[in-house]
Order: sequence, then C-alpha cells, then structure tokens
Amino acid sequence: MTGTVGRVVQRIDTLVILGAGGDLTSRLLLPGLASYLGSSRGSELLLIGVDRAAVTDAAWRDTVRSAFDAEPSALAKKVAAKSRYLQGDVTNADDLKRVLNAAPGRVALYFALPPAITMIACTALSTMPLPAGITLALEKPFGTDLKTAQALNRLLQSTLPEDQLFRVDHFLGKSTVLNLLGLRFANRVFEPLFSAENVERVEIVFDETLALEGRAGYYDKAGALTDMIQSHLLLVLALTAMEPPSSLSADDLRGSMAQVLRATRSWKKNGNSSHRARYAAGTVDGRSLPAYEHEAGVDPARKTETLAEVTLAIDNWRWAGVPFVLRSGKALGEARQDVRVIFKPVPHLPLGLTGVPGPSSLTISMKPATLDLDIVINGQGDPFTLERVPLHSDFGEGELNAYGEVLAELLECNTTLSVRGDVAEQCWRIITPILEAWKADRVKLDSYPAGTAEQIDW
Ligand code: BG6
Repeated sequence: MTGTVGRVVQRIDTLVILGAGGDLTSRLLLPGLASYLGSSRGSELLLIGVDRAAVTDAAWRDTVRSAFDAEPSALAKKVAAKSRYLQGDVTNADDLKRVLNAAPGRVALYFALPPAITMIACTALSTMPLPAGITLALEKPFGTDLKTAQALNRLLQSTLPEDQLFRVDHFLGKSTVLNLLGLRFANRVFEPLFSAENVERVEIVFDETLALEGRAGYYDKAGALTDMIQSHLLLVLALTAMEPPSSLSADDLRGSMAQVLRATRSWKKNGNSSHRARYAAGTVDGRSLPAYEHEAGVDPARKTETLAEVTLAIDNWRWAGVPFVLRSGKALGEARQDVRVIFKPVPHLPLGLTGVPGPSSLTISMKPATLDLDIVINGQGDPFTLERVPLHSDFGEGELNAYGEVLAELLECNTTLSVRGDVAEQCWRIITPILEAWKADRVKLDSYPAGTAEQIDW
C-alpha cells in the first residue's frame, strides 16, 4: 500500500518471529517476507527466529531459504544468509529478555503462536522495560471470544500505544479486497448506488475446496464462524459498507471501519438468522474425503461446523433493511470467493419491455481477481426483450501477496492495515449471539457431502 498517507519515514530493523518452527511461519510468513523483499518496497532487515527446539543458525537459514525459494530475490538471499535462530520459551520472561537484547534497532515481535501462548508471552512482556519503538504483531485469531479479546486488548494497550500494536489479518492485505477502496471511492458510478435505496442484498462469500488439511488441532476448536467470518469476512463487510474515509491514514480508514461495524448486528436479534453445517464423506477435485467428524484429531462431540452462514443487518441510514449474507465453507465443489452486490429492480419498467432476467449485480471476486457487472439490456435479437449481459474485467495481481502486503505495512511502521483493538472486539461482539445460539443448539447442525457444488437447502 505505497499509497498510504505520507512517505515511509520509519522502518523496522529487526523482525523476530516467535513460533519460528510452526506451520504458519514456513507456509505463510516467510513466503510473505520473500514477496516483500523481492518487491520495490523491500528493504534490508535482520530476521531472527525463536522457538523451543534446539536448531542451529545454519539449519534455520536452510528453512528460511527454502521458504524464500518461490521468490529468491538478491535481497531475500542476503536476509536469509544473515538470519539467526534463538532457542527460547516465549512464556519465560528471562528468555524474552534475552531475545530482546539480541535484537538491534527498531524491533517487531511477531507472535506466530496460538492465542493462549500469545497471552502468556504478552503478560511477561508487560512486566519488563521494552525497547523504544517496539511493535507487537499478533496473528489471528485475536482471542478466542469477546472476553478474551477484551482481556488481550487491555493487556496490550496498558503495555504499548495502539500505533505499536499490529493485529494481523491477511485479508486486509489481499489486493482484491483492497480494490474495494478504489472501486467504491474513485468512481462516481458505483458509490452513490451503495445504499438501501438501490441495493436489495449483499453477499460476501468465501467458499473453499480445501478441507481440514490436517489442522484439526486449531480448526476443531474454531469452526467456520470464528475462523473465517469473525475475522476475515467482517473486515470485508466493513470495507464494502463503510462511509467514505477522508484519507487512507490508519485513523481515518480504521475509524470508518469501526463505525460501520458498531452498527452491525445479527439480522434476528437472538442470533437465529444463521446456518451451520459440516461436511459428510465425499469427493473434492477427485480426492476422497472422510466425513469431517472422522478426520484425524476431530472430536465429533464438539459439533464444529465447516460451513457457516449468517445474515447481518447494519443499523444506519445508508443500509437499514439491507441483509448482508456472509458465508464460508470448506470442502465445497466450487471455490466462490466474492462480494456480490445485488441491486433492486427499477422503480418502473416501461411497458413494452418484456422478460426481466433478474436483477443487475456487481461482483468483486477475491479469487480470481475479477470484476463483473451484470446489466440488463434489450436490443439483442428481439429489441423489446430484456437480456442479461456481463461486463467483465480481470484485475492484475497485486505486486505483493497478502502476507507480503501486511508485512510491508508492519515493517514500514504503518498501522493502516492492522486490525485496531476496537475493530477486533466489534467482530467478536457481532458473532457472540450466533455463537450462543449454536452452543444452546437453537440452530440445527446440517450436513453436506464434501464436494457439493449445490447451494445447501437450509
Ligand atoms: C485462514 C483460515 O485465515 O484463511 C483458513 O484459517 C483459510 O481456514 C484461509 O483457508 C483462506 O485464506 P487464503 O488467502 O489462504 O485463501
């Protein structure tokens, strides 16, 4: 986001990854870092990996190099060659002090760790003097419910100012999600139409063909509602529905996001305007999958959903009465990942035009990066018969991948793409009545065969 307000004036000198041995580090963080280092924004830094296991610097550098392999720029090679590994237990204050002493200049501590461990490590950090300008970067999920998110915020905010806290959500780094800003606020043709007067319904969908992928340890306690809707999709909703910010500064952008999230609630007040389901045995892309409850590491008694759908309302002048339907599911036959704005019918169709083929709609696809405006015209064939015509455009990919974009912002000390503390809490507040309704079994747990491309008939 080089277009953020002002030039880069400060940079992180040392990036410390706590949880360096974890899957997140090798699968997402290091490739994201390679994307940043290979880009026009890349700048040299010292990379330090920290974890409990005894690993030599040489072995750690091999891990870094192989994760950097997809984008092996000269700068990435240099950073890999100089990177260091420290053995340490992040829940231990002495170990954390040792790590901080080994980190020169302005430091970012990246917690690539589960929320409970992050909480213990942050508690230990709050008891010690911290180097000037240090930034703490925290992975999602931020807490495990509203209470734990509030407690973590209290702890962090008593330790450091908000502009030294970076709550990571890689959806805010997706160029296709950021496209919502230009599309809405740099075009007169769309923005005036984004309101209850013109919009019938908004759908924000992230359906995946991916299944559990061996992540039962985390996912079985989270489920689709927490894993995808609480974090990612509510942020996409905020960018879709917020008022125009006057700038993309951290204060302005996040202020607009927070304002619309504060006005957002479950469509039915008791949380019952939601659906949940989990996949039964089936086939996805030629791969046979067992039923979710038979996947390794899953406890069927938890009733974890692999598909969640919620309908939300936004109580403000612009959106009153417009349902926002958010859905995300795993092991589906088709990966539909988009924001779809479905417009209302025209107030009056001139008599003589026949055959209305449904409403017009605007679809901003997150993957692949495309834009489709489906409009209704006549004149093809019988000039008095209406037909739907798609106007289609492919966006180019962003220069950086999503983690690269978020890391670039973190390393340039810019918090525009960090989830502000109150925003994280609002996201939990919005789904709390739904979580409660599910816990009390007020919403039945449906089932769908893995690989289904059909819309589930709730
Ligand atoms: C992660 C979720 O945050 O986002 C995963 O934990 C999900 O379950 C992933 O698959 C989707 O994002 P992307 O960018 O990898 O498609």
